[in-house]
Amino acid sequence: MTSNHHSVVLLGQEAIRKRIRELGERITLEMQGLTPCIMPVMDGGMIFAADLMREISLSVTMLPIKASSYGSGTFSSGSVKLPWSIPEGVKGKDILLVDDILDTGRTLEVLRSELLQSGVQSIRSCVLLRKESSSHLNTDYLGFEIPDEFVVGYGLDLGGLHRNLPDIRILVTP
Ligand code: IMP
Ligand code: MG
Repeated sequence: MTSNHHSVVLLGQEAIRKRIRELGERITLEMQGLTPCIMPVMDGGMIFAADLMREISLSVTMLPIKASSYGSGTFSSGSVKLPWSIPEGVKGKDILLVDDILDTGRTLEVLRSELLQSGVQSIRSCVLLRKESSSHLNTDYLGFEIPDEFVVGYGLDLGGLHRNLPDIRILVTP
């Protein structure tokens, strides 16, 4: 962390690992008979997706997609950009979108509607974190409900930094 940022660990490595194991088991049961197409939402969902897919005991494929809404700060810019086009390969697939956090929900909303227009078979979503103020937003699978704070680590960034922290932390700016 930089010197003007203190941080408080909100979710430690072991808690994250345990929860992901549970999510993987549920997905394995509920997607039995399908070949899920894991779709990490880059860049934030990359680390979660990598760990989650190894806890799913089914044949899976993987197609990443990129979405950005934050720019470089701690507030959503409001518009979601999809800098990569939707991959051809999604046609007929049972998609499992994997993202780091549900905040305004716009990212998943935009991705869902774009994917539906691309001829997918089904869409599910698995999100690691959901902020308290977003509890009205639905996702098929959810890791943790967290307070309305800006968090970093385990894929989540501030201005591109801190994604490599092994745990999830609240930034305390003095
Ligand atoms: P939404 O579209 O507003 O739901 O925002 C989702 C995206 O915003 C996530 O994929 C993150 O990249 C980013 N985001 C939202 N809240 C946070 C946070 O607390 N820390 C880091 N990134 C966040
Ligand atoms: Mg981000």
